[in-house]
Amino acid sequence: MRKDVRILLVGEPNVGKTSLIMSLVSEEFPEVVPYRAEEITIPADVTPERVPTHIVDYSGTLIMVPLILVGNKSDLVEHSSMETILPIMNQNSEIETCVECSAKNLKNISELFYYAQKAVLHPTGPLYCPEKKD
Ligand code: GTP
Ligand code: MG
Repeated sequence: MRKDVRILLVGEPNVGKTSLIMSLVSEEFPEVVPYRAEEITIPADVTPERVPTHIVDYSGTLIMVPLILVGNKSDLVEHSSMETILPIMNQNSEIETCVECSAKNLKNISELFYYAQKAVLHPTGPLYCPEKKD
C-alpha cells in the first residue's frame, strides 16, 4: 500500500493549471490566480482512496508516468474535443486516461484529481499501443 500520491500539473502556459488547483481547493472559480499555486496536501480522510495526496503546480520536468490528459476550459467549446484528444492518446502510451473539465464551471474538477490519484494507485497501462505490433 502506497504511503502517498504526488500529482504534478504540467502543460502549456495559460491552459489553466493553477486555476484547476484553486478551483479544487476553494470549490469556486478564482477570477485571479497567482502564477503558481503553493504545493497543497490533501489529508487521507478526505480523498476517495484514503491516501494523502500532494498536488504540485507546473514544473518544467516532464517525467511523470502515468499521465492523465486534461482538456480544461470545456465551458468555451460547444462540442467534445475527442478528435483532438484521440491522436494524442494514440501517440503517448503513458497517458492513462483523459478528462474534459472546466475550472470555471467546476466541471469534473474533483474527478480529475481522483483519476490522477487512481492512476498512481491502480495503474492499468494503455488499452491500445500502436507502437507495439507483435
Ligand atoms: P501559467 O502559470 O502561465 O503556465 O498558466 P496556467 O496554466 O497556470 O493558467 P491559469 O490558471 O493562470 O489560467 C489562465 C487563464 O485561463 C486565466 O485567465 C483563467 O481565468 C482562465 N481559465 C482557467 N481555467 C478556465 C476554464 O475552465 N474556463 C475558462 N473560460 N477560463 C479558464
Ligand atoms: Mg499557473
